[in-house]
Amino acid sequence: MHRKPMVAGNWKMNKSINETRDLLKEIKPLVEGIEDVTVVVCPPFVGLAIAKQELEGSQVHIGAQNMHWENSGAYTGEVSAGMLEGLAEYVIIGHSERRALFGETDETVNKKVLAAFGHGLKVIMCVGETLDENQAGKTAEVVSRQVKEGLKSVSVDQARGLTIAYEPVWAIGTGLAATPEGANDVHKKVIRPILRELFGREPGDAILILYGGSVNDKNARELFSQSDIDGGLIGGASLKAASFAAIVQAAR
Ligand code: 13P
Repeated sequence: MHRKPMVAGNWKMNKSINETRDLLKEIKPLVEGIEDVTVVVCPPFVGLAIAKQELEGSQVHIGAQNMHWENSGAYTGEVSAGMLEGLAEYVIIGHSERRALFGETDETVNKKVLAAFGHGLKVIMCVGETLDENQAGKTAEVVSRQVKEGLKSVSVDQARGLTIAYEPVWAIGTGLAATPEGANDVHKKVIRPILRELFGREPGDAILILYGGSVNDKNARELFSQSDIDGGLIGGASLKAASFAAIVQAAR
């Protein structure tokens, strides 16, 4: 099945409002007219409104990096799905940094996924094993659990708005990307079968599975040429317009 590739930039906690405007002004002309890749940028919450202004009329999509599962209430410092409506089309959920540093679990990831879909947001759900888990041969077990638990009660219809990002924790920010074959194996043999099992063959096959973890303008082409790597979730290399645009080109 043909899946239109996606390249999404996860800016993490980087870029002030002015820097956000500047970076988007640089990115826009570099990716203009590219129709065969879905391009997404995910600035911090405070940059979303600027991004919306700046990207008016462009085909670059906007994502948030997180959200809370409740609609509103006494949750100091949190932002709800309803608040993202109209600002962001996508939301990243369950990034390994959120799991490791902010106590997110498969259960809270699932609540967030359901709340996001409930508000019509598209979800990029992140999964991936740690170095210890990898070395203990537990990659398939951990990733399967994260996918199944994270997607509990998601309907076939909602799954149309779902993208999975496989981000092995040991590859994030380390300069040590997974091998293209290794990542492809996890996508093809671990994640895809679960998506088919959960949503049926055709809907399961339509869901994009991105790779994330030290993707750059040098290694992107080889990663994306694998049968089951449908694009990338890019951290560090998404903060420079030229490298981000080169990665988008590599996905074409
Ligand atoms: P790096 O590309 O900086 O390794 O980060 C990957 C990532 O965590 C994207 O969400």
